[in-house]
Amino acid sequence: MQNALTAPSLCAAYLDQFKIGAAVRLDQLLDADRAQLIKRHFNSLTAENDMKPERLLDHAATLAGGDAVTAKCDFSTCDRYLAFARDNGLQLRFHVLCWHNQTPRWFYAKDWSDAPDAPLADAALMQKRLESYIETVMEHVNRCYPGVVYAFDVVNEAIEPAQGAENALRSKSPWYEALGGEFIPCAFRAARRFALPGQKLFYNDYNCFEPEKCEAICALLSRLKAEGIVDGMGMQAHFVLDGFDAAACERAARAYADLGLTLHATELDIHCTSMDEESQEQLATAYESYFAMLLKLKREGVKVENVTFWGLTDADSWLTGFRKQQSYPLLFTGDMRTKLAFDRVLNAPSH
Ligand code: GLA
Repeated sequence: MQNALTAPSLCAAYLDQFKIGAAVRLDQLLDADRAQLIKRHFNSLTAENDMKPERLLDHAATLAGGDAVTAKCDFSTCDRYLAFARDNGLQLRFHVLCWHNQTPRWFYAKDWSDAPDAPLADAALMQKRLESYIETVMEHVNRCYPGVVYAFDVVNEAIEPAQGAENALRSKSPWYEALGGEFIPCAFRAARRFALPGQKLFYNDYNCFEPEKCEAICALLSRLKAEGIVDGMGMQAHFVLDGFDAAACERAARAYADLGLTLHATELDIHCTSMDEESQEQLATAYESYFAMLLKLKREGVKVENVTFWGLTDADSWLTGFRKQQSYPLLFTGDMRTKLAFDRVLNAPSH
């Protein structure tokens, strides 16, 4: 174990391969040591939560604005990440413009009412709101922080074959309920309209290596690609150590790449419940095989452009709270020392 602040830089080791990113929270940006850790090892930044609709949308300002279509946003927290990235030479992966989760109900309500049973807006109004929200957000980040954002997660988690809707779309979603599957191309068309040249637009989803889900995502993405409105697949990579299967990830990655898309491994962590030597060895092996797989694809010409860890250190990971178990899923310990998995990932490009 080395001091993470003086250990060799991870993103420097991958400079010729792909960007190495971290999803972080504001308290980490404001903590001197955590900020140092970010600057040393990562060249791509994502806000874990602070750029989701529920964090940007401003209810009081929207009501005061008196416009049925355009919701007002409060960018003050979001801007801290953008300024940090700009000032420290990182680029930012924006997460996320359109998602059924972490979006307040009032955004779907006819009169922006926050009453739990307020009537919902109709399809035509919801389509306009979606387009207008995407315009507001993209216009802000591109005007105030030109060149900082290089990729947007436009739509997150819209496929859920288990829910049995047509085309395997997630039916339990206010977006689906309002607009059917049309909300997806609608969001991408709007994002394309406001993207600057070079900014890439992503569809992002979890368990995207499962064959049935992968097939459904490919069907969706090939339609979006044919229309020229999607650039990449964000392969969420929340894994559980037991059952981790790099070969399944490779098969899915190839399927997405075959559509001509850029690949980002987003939201990478591997749930691991123990710090004992055996578990951490197993974790290191899993990380090594995942990176080796991506490096192999890259050598073959697949456009792998980014790998983003979901969290900075084991102490900061969402997994501990989520699964009500302790988890040690990342490359750094809470007291900022490198783990065995760090060494293996660091050295993977030279193998
Ligand atoms: C999903 C979302 C992320 C985050 C994680 C868990 O994967 O895309 O924004 O909420 O779950 O933290």
